[in-house]
Amino acid sequence: MGTLESITSRPLLLLIAGVKGAIGSTMVLASHIMRRQPEMITSYLTTTALWSDNGAAAPVHVAGWDVSQQSMSKTLALHRVVPESLWRKDRDYLDDIQLAPAPKTGLSVSAQVDQLLDDIDVFRKTWPDAQPVMINLLPACSECGCATGAIDEMDGGRFPDLAYARAAIQAGIPVVNFTPNDLDDPALVTAAAEKGLPLVGRDGKTGQTYFKVVLASALKARQLRVDGWYSLNILGNADGRNLMDPDCARGKLANKTELLDDVLGYQVGEAYGESAHKVHIDYYPPRGDAKEAWDVIDIKGLFGLPMSIRVNLQGRDSILAAPMALDLARWVLLLQAVGRGGAVPELGFFFKKPEGETPATTYEDQLRELRKLEAFCREKLAT
Ligand SMILES: NC(=O)c1ccc[n+]([C@@H]2O[C@H](COP(=O)([O-])OP(=O)(O)OC[C@H]3O[C@@H](n4cnc5c(N)ncnc54)[C@H](O)[C@@H]3O)[C@@H](O)[C@H]2O)c1
Repeated sequence: MGTLESITSRPLLLLIAGVKGAIGSTMVLASHIMRRQPEMITSYLTTTALWSDNGAAAPVHVAGWDVSQQSMSKTLALHRVVPESLWRKDRDYLDDIQLAPAPKTGLSVSAQVDQLLDDIDVFRKTWPDAQPVMINLLPACSECGCATGAIDEMDGGRFPDLAYARAAIQAGIPVVNFTPNDLDDPALVTAAAEKGLPLVGRDGKTGQTYFKVVLASALKARQLRVDGWYSLNILGNADGRNLMDPDCARGKLANKTELLDDVLGYQVGEAYGESAHKVHIDYYPPRGDAKEAWDVIDIKGLFGLPMSIRVNLQGRDSILAAPMALDLARWVLLLQAVGRGGAVPELGFFFKKPEGETPATTYEDQLRELRKLEAFCREKLAT
């Protein structure tokens, strides 16, 4: 086991599945800008105190896969997440980044894994000193098929996430699943645990749901009873368009919905005989990545008298998500270093549906778990 310094001072290699998506391309740019103006990025990370004990942040290299053939600069322009003035002078660098084409749809999972392992080999040879992490940023899709048995021969195009995660674990690389997609393949989970490789997820808790957990925890602490909670999102990026497909939205909506009752410890809407927690997502092209969310929260106080709260978040989907994915990459490296493989429920702070046994549900408990995990890693790596 190394020391904390030996981990935080080494370069990081992000291997991103879906690297030309809205979040992936934002991470590419952030990693590049981090080299010349570290504070422009590190001041928005939650791991900075943990990582910068030893001065300047270590370089972050990015490689990865996408089905898109577009150049990175064209990709950034199309996503409209970051203004062109912030990356125009980096165009040549961005277009030269070493990326690989995604395995072809129609290949079996095992054939996809073989191709990905070859690519990982090339990426590792390019940055031999860097510590790799696989980050899953593929589109949301509810079709997993993990329970069907013959996974190896399954068409990898139906659930590409599985091939990326399997290739990573086979190559000894930890995995962050930022998507709502379920990677619950028993062979994969067992292999990750046995090899001491964190396999963490799922569904980044970036905007509306983050504030929902904070507010619900605060209401619970004051014994204010939630009578109903109506949440609406509009967004105009590719994720939003994809989520108009009910099959793709199912997992995401379930993750956004289920956690409220878990935080509060009772069923919202019990008195009405049905859930009074409603979550809607609507694709609205004019907004691009600038997601807006509304929450109407009906609560009851003393004597059962009603009160109501309105929350309006005018956010930026990928600007909220990219630093979290980078934080998670750092976390899994630390956890790998201390031999903590498999699911890590203590990272529930970052996810809508934290994997693992009995993850904490309220905001203060999730934060406490995270602090404890940090202390545990620091202690283990102190010698
Ligand atoms: N932005 C947020 O706040 C947020 C929060 C939680 C979860 N997520 C999830 O994160 C994921 C990424 O979000 P995004 O906004 O970047 O999505 P996106 O649609 O912009 O990006 C997905 C990328 O994956 C690529 N892709 C598709 N199939 C592929 C394959 N087989 N191999 C490699 N690449 C492939 C696409 O070409 C695209 O570039 C989604 O699942 C989303 O639901 C996002």
